[in-house]
Amino acid sequence: MIIGLAADHAGKELKDILLGLVKALGHEAIDYGVAVTNEQSVDYPDYAALLAKALASGKIEAGVAICGTGTGMAMAANKFPGVRAAVVWDEYSARMSRAHNDANIICLGARTTNVHRAADFLKIWLETSFEDGRHKMRRDKIREIEKKNFKPRLEE
Ligand code: RB5
Repeated sequence: MIIGLAADHAGKELKDILLGLVKALGHEAIDYGVAVTNEQSVDYPDYAALLAKALASGKIEAGVAICGTGTGMAMAANKFPGVRAAVVWDEYSARMSRAHNDANIICLGARTTNVHRAADFLKIWLETSFEDGRHKMRRDKIREIEKKNFKPRLEE
């Protein structure tokens, strides 16, 4: 799979570690930054947008987004068509975000989740398949809401 990773300053260290894990698991990894922070703050919506745009355009098949809590990344990424970004905080939420919600971006909190747990959550997330059936109908309803409320302008 082609997997993109993005983080703000709070998530950079974890993002760099998980990038190595993604490669070690045999996937292609694309780094959407942040590259260097020099202790400087950056704005998480900028990096969420880079990642989500890549997913919405088909350049990547899945994404990993990291900030302090995962929340800001999820909020921003979910503004893009076709993106289902889920904040994951334990094994169960990692599994269910794939099995029931078909999440295509996992959002992790570098200030709420230690490196080992984050790596476990990511592995579970990558290994879990969407269960389809009634969950597909519900996922499709999300798409319908999106179509009614968003006008995609991916060229911007
Ligand atoms: C940065 O301080 C922090 O606000 C950000 O990483 C994130 O947690 C926002 O959701």
